[in-house]
Amino acid sequence: MQPIRLTVNGDKHEVTVDPRDLLVYVIRERIGLTGTNVGCLTGDCGACTVTLDGRTAKSCSVLAVTADGSEIRTIEGLASPAGLDPVQEAFWKENGFQCGYCLPGMLLATRELLDEDPDPAEEDITRTIDGNLCRCTGYTTILRAVRTAARRAQHRDERPERP
Ligand code: FES
Ligand code: FES
Repeated sequence: MQPIRLTVNGDKHEVTVDPRDLLVYVIRERIGLTGTNVGCLTGDCGACTVTLDGRTAKSCSVLAVTADGSEIRTIEGLASPAGLDPVQEAFWKENGFQCGYCLPGMLLATRELLDEDPDPAEEDITRTIDGNLCRCTGYTTILRAVRTAARRAQHRDERPERP
């Protein structure tokens, strides 16, 4: 067993892990943030997506010991005390989810995309979503939500109306 330190959504945690422990399980079961979902465990579905030192990562494909000292953001850290992140508002407005299992990964991937480019090309939007599988086949509304979030990023004073 090995002690590691993680900063998750701004909070510092010290946990003792087995060198074989996957980051997704440490986040869910040791730190108690269950918004990060477990899907395929093979790096294909994106349900376990978190932001690891500023880049999205599939936490089922990361050994927790290798994340020692890292800053992590999970879906629980996307909203702020001021309210939902504009990306969350856009997905809400456009009904960009059905069961919601894929939603944390979709939201964090979209947030990363718009942080890098507030006016992404259509192929960049598609590429961003490409690593996140939606079993409810809601891609039409998901893509619409990403475009709405991008418009919101370009006109920061324009908040989407809530349904
Ligand atoms: S559970 Fe990690 S990519 Fe599917
Ligand atoms: S909304 Fe159900 S998996 Fe995407």
